[in-house]
Amino acid sequence: MIQINSEQSPFSGASFLQFSDLLTGYRIGLLLMLVEKIGLVGLLGPQGKTSPQICSRLGWDAAFGQRFLDCLCRLELIEKKEDRYLPGSFSQKFFTPDTPNYQGNTLCFERQLLQSWQQLEATLTAGHRVYATEDKNEEEIQQAFSRYLGAMDEAANQRAEELFTALGPLPTQGTILDLGGGSGAHLATFLTRNPTWSAIFCDLAQVVERALQERLAPFASRVTPWRCNVLAENDRELDAINDKSCDLTLLSNLIHCQGPEETTRIIGLAARKTTATGRLLIHDFFSDCSWRDALYDLHMMLNTYNGRTYRVQECVDMAANYGFCAHTVHRLASGSTLLCLARSESGLPVTLP
Ligand SMILES: C[S@@+](CC[C@H](N)C(=O)[O-])C[C@H]1O[C@@H](n2cnc3c(N)ncnc32)[C@H](O)[C@@H]1O
Repeated sequence: MIQINSEQSPFSGASFLQFSDLLTGYRIGLLLMLVEKIGLVGLLGPQGKTSPQICSRLGWDAAFGQRFLDCLCRLELIEKKEDRYLPGSFSQKFFTPDTPNYQGNTLCFERQLLQSWQQLEATLTAGHRVYATEDKNEEEIQQAFSRYLGAMDEAANQRAEELFTALGPLPTQGTILDLGGGSGAHLATFLTRNPTWSAIFCDLAQVVERALQERLAPFASRVTPWRCNVLAENDRELDAINDKSCDLTLLSNLIHCQGPEETTRIIGLAARKTTATGRLLIHDFFSDCSWRDALYDLHMMLNTYNGRTYRVQECVDMAANYGFCAHTVHRLASGSTLLCLARSESGLPVTLP
């Protein structure tokens, strides 16, 4: 069993430098968002550009623009060779569109979240979500939806390999059910790693359509799509998936969108669909795993109606009510956690990473 909460908090030391760096961390965050907004990496191109070229293209004041570029060099986000500025390895990795590590949607989504974080005190006073999206028009709603899905996709792309590596060796054939599958990035990785498995991909209709057109398009023959609201009362859609028919059931970042009552129902549903020897996988942020997960709970408080993070034990107890009495916990290097549940110890991963 991996020790939970083994990571040091950012406040575990007490130096003034540490205090200053934490306090002013928002400056670096805003700077990253601006670098994405102006498409700096694309603008510089592989040959680089001079400061006057960059400033003239962006309509920036030449002297201020040069100071900004020099600051980015000092931070090692870009490099300077003679009089030309070029992308550095970090910016090339995360800011180059159409490459696997690109984080453009994540940066845009985070910019949007700045507004909700400014409502923290008001939210704490109100006892419910204050930052609302109701006043958006249709186009803005679609844009926000794309950004949200895109940010999920970019994170899943980073995490999927380590998530499935944590499962250890799997049988050559089986069925995986992905509930609340989002962009389909997790499933695409899983199906690539396990070429003779099939999958059931479940999410709201609009999300399923997008995933089928994009991430899951190459896997169409192996994926059964389920367009449904897993919480809808009297929704017969999920009844079409036979009980105890899925070898792995994945709930990745789904339960943090809901309150405890809905989460219990979702875990119950997942348990019902999982075979006798199968595993139920909860991949998420758990409030007792690290300081990042604790902050994630506030993110849910500000941006969802009743979402929250759960303690590992809460989920273990919920799953035990449905006969899943054995578990292992895997902290993933990129920051999230996999809680792997089975009906008995023999169903758990054989090889722990
Ligand atoms: C935070 S995203 C996680 C997506 C993906 N599993 C991942 O880890 O990247 C939550 C997903 O659950 C879906 N979802 C939330 N509530 C749902 C419900 N009641 N029924 C079906 N899907 C739901 C959302 O549409 C979204 O795609």
